[in-house]
Amino acid sequence: ARVLHVVGTRPNFVKAAPVVAALRTAGCDQVLVHTGQHYDERMSDIFFRQLGLPEPDTDLGVGSGSHARQTADLLIALEGELSARDPALVIVYGDVNSTLAAALVAAKLGMPVAHVEAGLRSFDMTMPEEINRRLVDQLAELLFVTSPEAVGHLAREGTDAGRVHLVGNPMIDTLLTHLDHFDPAAARAAHGLPEPYGVVTLHRPANVDDPEAAKAAARALTEAARLVDLAVPLHPRGRAALGAAGLDGAPGVHILEPLGYVEFMSLVRGATAVITDSGGVQEETTVLGVPCLTLRTTTERPVTVTHGTNRLVGHRELVPALRKVLDGGQPAPEEGPPLWDGRAGARIAAVVTRWLDHHV
Ligand code: UD1
Ligand code: UDP
Repeated sequence: ARVLHVVGTRPNFVKAAPVVAALRTAGCDQVLVHTGQHYDERMSDIFFRQLGLPEPDTDLGVGSGSHARQTADLLIALEGELSARDPALVIVYGDVNSTLAAALVAAKLGMPVAHVEAGLRSFDMTMPEEINRRLVDQLAELLFVTSPEAVGHLAREGTDAGRVHLVGNPMIDTLLTHLDHFDPAAARAAHGLPEPYGVVTLHRPANVDDPEAAKAAARALTEAARLVDLAVPLHPRGRAALGAAGLDGAPGVHILEPLGYVEFMSLVRGATAVITDSGGVQEETTVLGVPCLTLRTTTERPVTVTHGTNRLVGHRELVPALRKVLDGGQPAPEEGPPLWDGRAGARIAAVVTRWLDHHV
């Protein structure tokens, strides 16, 4: 194959779908490798079906483990796979362990790497994702960027400007492609939610791994649910800790399984507020104009704060911030950030096909 995509986690699937589709339209010979980092039906298969991603050509079945073990297993499995397939270009997405492992293996095999969603920085090296992002950007030959400040980060790190392409946001391509299929009323009814309601997702290690942090998050959310009912589709990482911290069974808290993309975005679209620590959800709420309270101290996506409806809050600030949103808050901007227009996949495909013509 000329192009080999490596995906492994839920956010990877959402970002890769429009790139794979655009390269298919361009007639490019491509292969899709799933590392198996996410493997539950609701964390993986459901996205392939709903997003029109082709079945992976290979599923490496790497699964879960400590960072060292998971990354090591990913490296070994990907080395075999990439050597056998010998692609002209390896495309990696986002900032997860599968992204880092794929970039590292490809670079060591002398294969050029393209990084989709390059240049994002939280400047918080306690986040595993920040480590992954920085290293992947060092290894990449083509860097596809979602917003201008990321171009600045890469320039300051000494990245050759000729390798950096500001193309917009493929996650938003997916959102706009499926927008007409989002049905907030049906999703609300399916989960027995009243009107109004909020949506919560939490899975960052800083919020759920440490029992004290999980307790603080559970306490803040329990109090928030007194203001508005909360639908809480829980990522497997948060489930046990937040349950043990007392979130399960709190009045107004509706704990749900992880949701498929269409069900999840339907709920988000109809929500009065979203509370999250997700990267992608900060961007999706920006474009949908849904107020978002992000339970983090930093964000690698500052444009969601300056342009959109996102606000970073500590546990203690959550309830007052939510009250403000419920009281009417600030009006949402009419449009998303520049280039978050549904055409990022096409722009990436144009750069990739041109690059292949010149380099292969
Ligand atoms: C990973 C990413 C994170 C991203 C998130 C998206 C890294 C370092 N982190 O975090 O940046 O925001 O994906 O959702 O790559 N598990 C299951 N079923 C699954 C997958 C995981 O039960 O299908 C459980 C396992 O107990 C596992 C834990 O979730 O140990 C964590 O999974 P892992 O892939 O290591 O990291 P995430 O927290 O999902
Ligand atoms: N998502 C979903 N169902 C859920 C939660 C999330 O479909 O129950 C989607 C949503 O589009 C989100 C994406 O999965 O943007 C990635 O989510 P996650 O928060 O897991 O990853 P992050 O963006 O934080 O890396």
